[in-house]
Amino acid sequence: MPSSLAELRALDAEHVMQTYGRLPVAFVRGEGTRLWDTDGKEYLDFLSGLAVTSLGHAHPDVADAIADQARTLLHVSNLYYNDVQPRVAARLDALLGGGGRVFFCNSGAEANECAIKLARRHGQRHGGPDRYHVISAYGSFHGRTLTTLAATGQPQKQETFQPLPTGFRQVAFDDLDALAAVVDARVAAVMLEPVQGEGGVHPASAEYLHGVRQLCDEREALFVVDEVQTGLGRTGKWFGFEHTGVQPDIVTMAKALGNGVPIGACWAREEVAGAFAAGDHATTFGGQPLAARAALAVLDVMERDDVPARAARAGDRLSERLAKLDGVVDVRGPGLLVAAELGDERAAGEVANACLENGLVLNAVTPTALRFAPPLLVTDDEIDAAVGILARVL
Ligand SMILES: Cc1ncc(COP(=O)(O)O)c(C=O)c1O
Repeated sequence: MPSSLAELRALDAEHVMQTYGRLPVAFVRGEGTRLWDTDGKEYLDFLSGLAVTSLGHAHPDVADAIADQARTLLHVSNLYYNDVQPRVAARLDALLGGGGRVFFCNSGAEANECAIKLARRHGQRHGGPDRYHVISAYGSFHGRTLTTLAATGQPQKQETFQPLPTGFRQVAFDDLDALAAVVDARVAAVMLEPVQGEGGVHPASAEYLHGVRQLCDEREALFVVDEVQTGLGRTGKWFGFEHTGVQPDIVTMAKALGNGVPIGACWAREEVAGAFAAGDHATTFGGQPLAARAALAVLDVMERDDVPARAARAGDRLSERLAKLDGVVDVRGPGLLVAAELGDERAAGEVANACLENGLVLNAVTPTALRFAPPLLVTDDEIDAAVGILARVL
């Protein structure tokens, strides 16, 4: 097995499709908030694999559950029941208020794909063949499949793949008038992130989300909330929309659900979920025993250790300390999904690279802003150490 960074990079260059602009580090081990690279160098992980390993690396409860399940039953087809999937569905449904149904898949994009197909099915059943349009926001990120790319409000990512599926349109984020101008009888759903994560960590205002709910009710459109990045404790509550008290019709999630084991989920309230008939949607791996068992372990730990509340407290500490740094002009984002704005003259990419060299993993979410998404169990000492590294770099 190749073990040096140079060997791994050569192998990657020769055999892996070059779709990623990777940084020159290869990680080989993790524990909690720590990562180690091929040279044994230690890092503080304040990115969590892009908000995935919310319980930290190698969490013992999740590791034990995965190992036990691997020795028992890894996979059976969705042509049959398995003894884990419905238990995860029941737990998620309870977290979302009850009375809903869940479809399991393998990623965030697939969770959103399910939401879009379900919204179209529901819209066309209730509003006729023209009600299939989906409105989303500029600056959003909903995935890289052709359909979720069509919903992603970033024209530069869409350009290369035209023509994209039709029936998608974007309007300004957090602007109710812009939305009201386009939601007509052809619109099946409005799809929004409670906090635009990839777009730069921009939270939607509570007034906006309440206004969207009312607009959707008046015009018979569904309200889809994309919680792929914000869901499961990241913002200091189980779901980002809970900060506002708004109740969506469909909620998608993925990243944190398996703490690194790929699993996504699309929840819908019962009447909406009923628009899917048997055979309308399916995926081979969705909710298979291994992934579902990882999710069950994640939910167990998150509930037992009150992880969303811990994220809220840790997020306050992180944001307070970041705001005091020279060179940081603004700090935004709830809980442990935080951006530090460096101002125009700073190149966030350069700062992120220098942090990496100094043992701190984070990313430049925009050319001027750094994103912090550490494990939700991050300790006060780790927060202080990470902010200390950034302070020295700045
Ligand atoms: C809000 C949101 N939706 C969807 C996705 C796509 O998820 P995936 O990369 O698992 O397909 C992401 C990924 O960053 C996301 O942040």
